[in-house]
Amino acid sequence: MELTIISPLDMHLHLREAEMLDFVLPLTSSYFAGAVIMPNLQQPVDSKDRLTHYRERIVNQCKDHGFEPYMTLFFKPYPANFLDEIKEQIIGIKLYPAGITTQSEQGVGELKEARDTFTIMEDLNIPLLVHGESHGYVLDREEEFLQTYLWLAENFPKLHIIMEHITTRAAVEFLDKYDNISATVTLHHLLLSLDDVIGGLMKPHLFCKPVAKSPRDRDALKQVVFSGHEKVMFGSDSAPHPIHAKECAGCAAGIFTAPLALPALATLFEQEGCLEKLQLFVSDHAVNRYQLQPIKKNIQLVRKPFVIPEKYGTITPFLAGKTLPWSYA
Ligand code: DOR
Ligand code: ZN
Repeated sequence: MELTIISPLDMHLHLREAEMLDFVLPLTSSYFAGAVIMPNLQQPVDSKDRLTHYRERIVNQCKDHGFEPYMTLFFKPYPANFLDEIKEQIIGIKLYPAGITTQSEQGVGELKEARDTFTIMEDLNIPLLVHGESHGYVLDREEEFLQTYLWLAENFPKLHIIMEHITTRAAVEFLDKYDNISATVTLHHLLLSLDDVIGGLMKPHLFCKPVAKSPRDRDALKQVVFSGHEKVMFGSDSAPHPIHAKECAGCAAGIFTAPLALPALATLFEQEGCLEKLQLFVSDHAVNRYQLQPIKKNIQLVRKPFVIPEKYGTITPFLAGKTLPWSYA
């Protein structure tokens, strides 16, 4: 049995820099037609120079793969002339509340002070991608942040706002309240609850931000994804960290899923009896929401066991050592 996915897109991806970039990039560019590249580098991507250099480095590294890096800028208050000049080179601007996750220290402190930039983005039709967590109690962070999404959605009705990597039933319910809100969902949040992370022995390779929530929350995510909701797009949030940064005191947040995401999603969608909806989740919804014309690239999956390696270089992947029924042809 075979399955063809047309121009799969990963709408939220961390590629990092230097050797890590060189190593992880082909593990996405071989299997996807494009990906939205996160800007949280050690020096955030917040200038034209940084954006151009980062894009060139990515493009040079995957020339033969038919892969489009959709670049993002790191949210800061930016002037209108700068955004007007740069808007053709980015798919959107990524907002991190300051200090909320990996390399986000230079993120936004007081959101309402960024009002002018939101107005400019709305005028210029630049989407806003948001890491939506407050600084409250860890399990309440996403739900608390819904007030901020509400403020954004109401005050900037033409701004396309993407709630990144949603993890809660409350966020799923919020999605339909405003036309200008969309969401991405990861593979790992469809599979995990907090029990998997800390319910038994603590599993650093399942630790990410936002943390996985309750089984009830996970079920709400599954329900909205498998129903083929058109505002819900796949964003892996594949976030590689070397083993020494995961297996230590002070484990870094992030789960590396890029090379196995499509076979694992095919497995999940098949189990749920909705394999025909996979194409919508991993490509069509993003194409429609963002009005993209992705590179034409057919990815073939076959029903043949795929043993997920224990390691990719220095990285332990999600589902390491497990066997999936679907693999790349
Ligand atoms: O788990 C995460 N890792 N969540 C994020 O938001 C950032 C990411 C990273 O960059 O490692
Ligand atoms: Zn991320």
